[in-house]
Amino acid sequence: MKAIVITTPGGPEVLQLQEVEDPQLRDDEVLIRVHATALNRADTLQRKGSYPPPKGASPYPGLECSGTIESLGKNVSKWKIGDQVCALLAGGGYAEKVAVPEGQVLPVPPGVSLKDATSFPEVACTVWSTIFMMSRLSHGETLLIHGGSSGIGTFAIQIAKYRGSRVFVTAGSEEKLAFCKSIGADVGINYKTEDFVARVKEETGGQGVDVILDCMGASYYQRNLDSLNFDGRLFIIGFQGGVSTEVDLRALLGKRLTVQGAGLRSRSPENKALIVDEVAKNVWPAIAEGKVKPVVYKSFPLSEAAEAHRLMESSQHIGKILLLP
Ligand SMILES: NC(=O)c1ccc[n+]([C@@H]2O[C@H](COP(=O)([O-])OP(=O)(O)OC[C@H]3O[C@@H](n4cnc5c(N)ncnc54)[C@H](OP(=O)(O)O)[C@@H]3O)[C@@H](O)[C@H]2O)c1
Repeated sequence: MKAIVITTPGGPEVLQLQEVEDPQLRDDEVLIRVHATALNRADTLQRKGSYPPPKGASPYPGLECSGTIESLGKNVSKWKIGDQVCALLAGGGYAEKVAVPEGQVLPVPPGVSLKDATSFPEVACTVWSTIFMMSRLSHGETLLIHGGSSGIGTFAIQIAKYRGSRVFVTAGSEEKLAFCKSIGADVGINYKTEDFVARVKEETGGQGVDVILDCMGASYYQRNLDSLNFDGRLFIIGFQGGVSTEVDLRALLGKRLTVQGAGLRSRSPENKALIVDEVAKNVWPAIAEGKVKPVVYKSFPLSEAAEAHRLMESSQHIGKILLLP
């Protein structure tokens, strides 16, 4: 089959389409003929050599895909050949075929094309497992999402609105904020021109928000603590603003705050299957109702993966960038 190979750690130009061996199918896996895959920030880190695939995972990038099941491992019971599905992968999506444990596979949601279905597994599993399963974001609470126009952000806005939250977002341009509002965000904060702590306080009568979904890490840590309400929860999923910082911890006690973090890719297949089950139960119905829609910015042929990475690193996109084998 053909796959995108990271020929050496480096810039987008190291991504090259090459002929490689087909994946080996394990007993609990299905083989998917990939119709589409989507980019995630982590792919750019893997390309640069700073985010190696977990042990046993495919060396090729790609954390999600959609496509048709082509063959079944001998212990597979949930799926049959010909099923149209999408899947959460530990790697290997940038290819014509990929093998994946059956528990990480989801049906294509009703009303969504096979191509666009690839935009959901990674964002749905990340957002559901963090701010809903772990931070227990509930109806009537307020949520601040950093990077509202990201793949993660555009999904988080929609599902949080659907579940009855008041949603705040940060983004780096007025155009991005306008888009976030068009899909449900209540309050848009331009992080380049506004102080998000002051704006959050102003919009919440001085209280702060209940939950924050953060992709910045160190650079926002103190300001995130300062933006939380009593019993607030900060969930960190990314370190775009660095990994170490000094922080005044007093707010943790005074406001009874919880700080959590998690990475999806390094979870065990059993743990991922549990999340995928919860996503099927709680998120897929919202997509079927048309309340959560795919947000696809641009699709490239798989051979143009380098161009797609350049677009992601320029941060001009809103939502997901797809690759089509
Ligand atoms: N832990 C996990 O399991 C997990 C899983 C998936 C994703 N993630 C993380 O989630 C984040 C989003 O991922 P993605 O794939 O959706 O990437 P993406 O579409 O490339 O989004 C990156 C986002 O970061 C925003 N950003 C950059 N600097 C910012 C700042 N100072 N303040 C606020 N926002 C800022 C960008 O906003 P502007 O363009 O407006 O600057 C952009 O929306 C990444 O950090 C990724 O590593 C974590």
